[in-house]
Order: sequence, then structure tokens, then C-alpha cells
Amino acid sequence: MKVAIGSDHAGYKIKEDIKEVMDDLNIQYEDVGCDCEDSVDYPDFAVPVAEKVAKGEVDRGILICGTGIGMSITANKVDGVRCALVHDLFSAKVTRLHNDSNVLAMGERIIGPGLAKEITKVWLETEFEGGRHQRRVNKMMEVEAKA
Ligand code: RB5
Repeated sequence: MKVAIGSDHAGYKIKEDIKEVMDDLNIQYEDVGCDCEDSVDYPDFAVPVAEKVAKGEVDRGILICGTGIGMSITANKVDGVRCALVHDLFSAKVTRLHNDSNVLAMGERIIGPGLAKEITKVWLETEFEGGRHQRRVNKMMEVEAKA
């Protein structure tokens, strides 16, 4: 599996923590920035991560900002992306099982690094369940085709 990861200044610290999780799991990743805690604009990082997922250059994306909201709204505007904003372990698991989410968004001002790392691990390690959930995901993606 290959992952693209990005954050703005408000998610920078947790981005660095999550890279350690992926190192431990031997998961290859591409960090699109940002590179420090100087103020930047979250769409400048959400779009490259989302586009890499949509083009199949990577399998999954992870985005962190202050709340995760700006990142998730932006990522979901890219066709092919199913970005889930997650701040608990149950949602991390179920959004993989049921929604086949391909981008994970979190907010560093909402949760701490310990929980963010656990969420990342669960989200990366949980497979999509398919079956009736595939039908629902297909219906979700048909909305893009019609737009
Ligand atoms: C930056 O101040 C903040 O607005 C951003 O990180 C994010 O929370 C937006 O949704």
C-alpha cells in the first residue's frame, strides 16, 4: 500500500506522528507538505493528496488540519475521493468496512496524537466489506457521474 499525506500548519505535528506509524507498519508514503508550522492554506495540500488518490498514484490519502473539516470538504470535491472525517476508533473501522473511504481526515485541535495514531492504524488495516456496501458505494459514486 502507498499513502499520500498532507497537512496545514494546524495539523503539522500530527502529520509527523502519523508518518512514524506508517514507518512502523512498513507502509510507503509520500508527504506533500506542509513542512513547518508557518501559516498555510489547507486546500493547497488537500487537493494534491486527493488527486493522487483519484489518479491511482497512491492507494489512500491522509489529511490533517485544525478541525479536519476544511481538508475533508476540499478532498471530497475531487471525483473518485471518499474522504471520511474521523475522530474515534469506531468510525475509523466502520468507514473502511462500509464506505470504502480512501482518504482519512482528522483535526489536530480536536484529538491528541495518541488517538490520531490509533485511528490511522485501524483505518489503514481495515478492509472494505463489499457486498451490500458495494452497492451503496456505487450509488454514492454515481452522483459524481451525473454532476
Ligand atoms: C486553520 O486556522 C484552520 O482553519 C484549519 O486548520 C482547519 O481547521 C480548517 O478547516
